[in-house]
Amino acid sequence: MKLSVIGTGYVGLVSGVCFAELGNEVTCVDISREKINLLNDGIVPIYEPGLKELIDRNKELNRLTFTTDLNEAVKQTDVVIIAVGTPSMPNGEANLSYIQKAARQIGEAINGYKVIVTKSTVPVGTNEKVGSIISQYSTYSFDIASVPEFLREGSAVIDTLNPDRIIIGTESERAAAVLWDLHSPLTDQIIITDIRSSEMIKYASNAFLATKISFINEIANICEKVGANVEKVALGMGMDHRIGSAFLKAGIGYGGSCFPKDTQALIQIAGQMDYDFKLLKSVVDVNNDQRFNVIRKLKEILGDLEGCTIGIWGLAFKPETDDVRDAPAFEIISAILELGANVKAYDPIAADNFRNRLDDPRIQYCSSSMEAAHDADALCILTEWEEFKSTPLPDIQTWLKSPNLIDGRNIFQEEELNGTPFVYYSVGRPS
Ligand code: UGA
Repeated sequence: MKLSVIGTGYVGLVSGVCFAELGNEVTCVDISREKINLLNDGIVPIYEPGLKELIDRNKELNRLTFTTDLNEAVKQTDVVIIAVGTPSMPNGEANLSYIQKAARQIGEAINGYKVIVTKSTVPVGTNEKVGSIISQYSTYSFDIASVPEFLREGSAVIDTLNPDRIIIGTESERAAAVLWDLHSPLTDQIIITDIRSSEMIKYASNAFLATKISFINEIANICEKVGANVEKVALGMGMDHRIGSAFLKAGIGYGGSCFPKDTQALIQIAGQMDYDFKLLKSVVDVNNDQRFNVIRKLKEILGDLEGCTIGIWGLAFKPETDDVRDAPAFEIISAILELGANVKAYDPIAADNFRNRLDDPRIQYCSSSMEAAHDADALCILTEWEEFKSTPLPDIQTWLKSPNLIDGRNIFQEEELNGTPFVYYSVGRPS
């Protein structure tokens, strides 16, 4: 099949590359000439395990090309996938201007029947708007479909090639058949539904996962007060298949480009229909507060932070990515600075992205975990990188000025801490 993918962000680039890997001829389009030049030169603008290898192979097999010429790409292809960004506006609503622009350009370009798929996360009703914009600019026949994406950053290639399910939302049997053929090599768990339900499935799924995280984080906070261990609680809960063990890892709250944006957008969508989504509002509130437990624990150990140096391990919102969008580290570090302390921060790959957003003379960006911990009054672990998990505790002890460790991701086990001089605070476990 011949496909064009509009937008080479996480979703567009990974989907396009994976469809090429399945043997389709894919043209990835982006308005950024710089991005397209990088991709044509074999440089991948995002860090994603396994992606570069797939890009190189499929380019070599002439199944994958990159261009800024949307018009030509659309003309040459049977299926057009819209995967442009839908960033949050200040009120939490999704900004659909990129989607609308893509729809107009597609309308101007189409030269025969096409299936127009939206993969971007969009409010209910957006696909229908895409359809009406295209028909304002074109007299050719086309069908629209919503096929939401469920990939996770850091495991995007694996997730795309091994999906739990594919949702195809369309009112057209012809489009459903085309999209079934396109996706059936990936899984037999394909659901065909109406467009509005498909749009809702994406928001509801992310909102539910966010709810699980805030739920377990609150249970963790209560565990700390009653002397229970949240990891054992999560294990026991997760064994009930109705609950499931995934997304029950307590920590400093969720971040990234999806959960914060999509939970806010769903609250807005509900609000516009005069529905007060109270549960989801609480999920967001709990998440926004959870990160400050790190500050509360620092104060408990150090009292006044004025003049202290705090080491930070991990700036990305999760491991295996250089993405720092809505990473809890921003607010944690800003709060530490406000309390008069200095910060020494290290992340294996996300430090440059982080510094571009938070450059402050009181933050020293370090080139190793050892440097960030060296002579610090306390060390806070904010991302569960493998590199941190495998660092011997005696090493950390010799680097630190005082053996104060706040483990925001529970990467160490209490047994390892027994008999050491560490003052150790983790999440939801007896300290
Ligand atoms: C999330 C969803 O998992 C994907 O299914 C979805 O496609 C994607 O959003 C999207 O909408 O595009 P992602 O944001 O890449 O994917 O990362 P996750 O692995 O879901 O992690 C999100 C955040 O939750 C991270 O900050 C992580 O540390 C946190 N988290 C996750 C926890 O605190 N505890 C957990 O048990 C799981």
